[in-house]
Amino acid sequence: MNEASAAIHSPISLYIHLPWCLHKCAYCDFNSHATELDSLPEQSYLQALLTDLQQATKTIVQREVRSIFIGGGTPSLFSPASIEKILVACKESTSLNSDCEITLETNPGTFEHQKFSEFLAAGVNRLSIGVQSLNNKHLNSLERIHNSQEAISAIQSAAKIGFSNINADLMFGLPKQSINDALQDIQTLCEQPLTHISYYQLTLEPNTLFHRFPPDLPDEDITWTIQNNGMEVLAKHGFERYEVSAYAHDNLQCLHNINYWQFGDYLGIGAGAHSKLSTANGIIRFQRVRQPSSYMQAVSTGSHIIQEHYIDSESLIFEFMLNNLRLRRGFKAQAFTYFTGLEWSVVKPRILAFIEDGLLEKSHDYYRASPMGYRFLDEVTQRFLPAA
Ligand SMILES: C[S@@+](CC[C@H](N)C(=O)[O-])C[C@H]1O[C@@H](n2cnc3c(N)ncnc32)[C@H](O)[C@@H]1O
Ligand code: SF4
Repeated sequence: MNEASAAIHSPISLYIHLPWCLHKCAYCDFNSHATELDSLPEQSYLQALLTDLQQATKTIVQREVRSIFIGGGTPSLFSPASIEKILVACKESTSLNSDCEITLETNPGTFEHQKFSEFLAAGVNRLSIGVQSLNNKHLNSLERIHNSQEAISAIQSAAKIGFSNINADLMFGLPKQSINDALQDIQTLCEQPLTHISYYQLTLEPNTLFHRFPPDLPDEDITWTIQNNGMEVLAKHGFERYEVSAYAHDNLQCLHNINYWQFGDYLGIGAGAHSKLSTANGIIRFQRVRQPSSYMQAVSTGSHIIQEHYIDSESLIFEFMLNNLRLRRGFKAQAFTYFTGLEWSVVKPRILAFIEDGLLEKSHDYYRASPMGYRFLDEVTQRFLPAA
């Protein structure tokens, strides 16, 4: 077996996409579509997902599944019975690790908390709650459909009913947000019973309302101050930064996302879901039909996979660096070879040059961004881009 084929047998993650929300937020470019609750095509989508899952997992049946992430959209709009059927199907068709991390994304509306204990009973063992802000003025400007109090009680009821691993997503750099507003948000969030916080700077993504009608965002100096001071608050409360935007308490890092950042393999099921798989012929990426109704139709005729391509060597180098350099601890040379199938010598001269420039550093056996490189990570990773 050569190094390239080693990853063919590596553990794999499953991503399941549920693409509906009660309202489309002004900043969101995810494959999510607004629906009234009574128009949610839950049963037909569930059937399509289960068919897709059963077919797709045939090729990975021997590979250990260490994480499942049910994301969206707002997956918690689905009933606990549907979530349970998805998880039972995953168990039946894959080699699920007994400690498999199973995350469900949820919005903090009251309607959702009533279902938390049934999600737990269905096998979900990690909740990810989209808090975004704890200030009603900012929640309104983001067009969120919950208020701050509902966000806090969502976290507290999740902990109370027995979730021991809870993430909250918080954004900063919001329209008209002051440094104090932002620090108040992170301070209050850190006092909640959470094991993980994802702390994102708001970006204006193409095809969003905010992109068409840009709001008044704080300038770079203010967002830089918010991020730095916010990180101090996180650290004071025991949340350790292990990735650009991810902070874990008690080392409860998100296994699912770590697999992406390590450039591991994943299989995405559902409308628009992406997959990356190591095969005997190379590493392949593919995507499913994006529009939910077209996806359901396409699954019934077996035409739901729309784009497939093998990743060439230069792109493998770029993608590996783009992901692994996000991790605070970086990566080992052996991991580069394991996940890309390429010899370390193809990239070593570039790595040594970056070390020379002070943008990367070596710590024990790990190569990682230096503090300066971490600050300008986009610029560092761009320099691994294949020549045009
Ligand atoms: C699929 S969404 C979240 C789940 C859930 N639907 C919700 O909104 O509560 C994943 C996370 O990405 C972050 N996010 C989405 N759009 C963003 C943007 N334009 N800039 C920064 N973070 C963004 C938000 O924090 C969001 O919770
Ligand atoms: S941010 Fe979440 S709730 Fe808002 S539209 Fe996107 S996926 Fe839906």
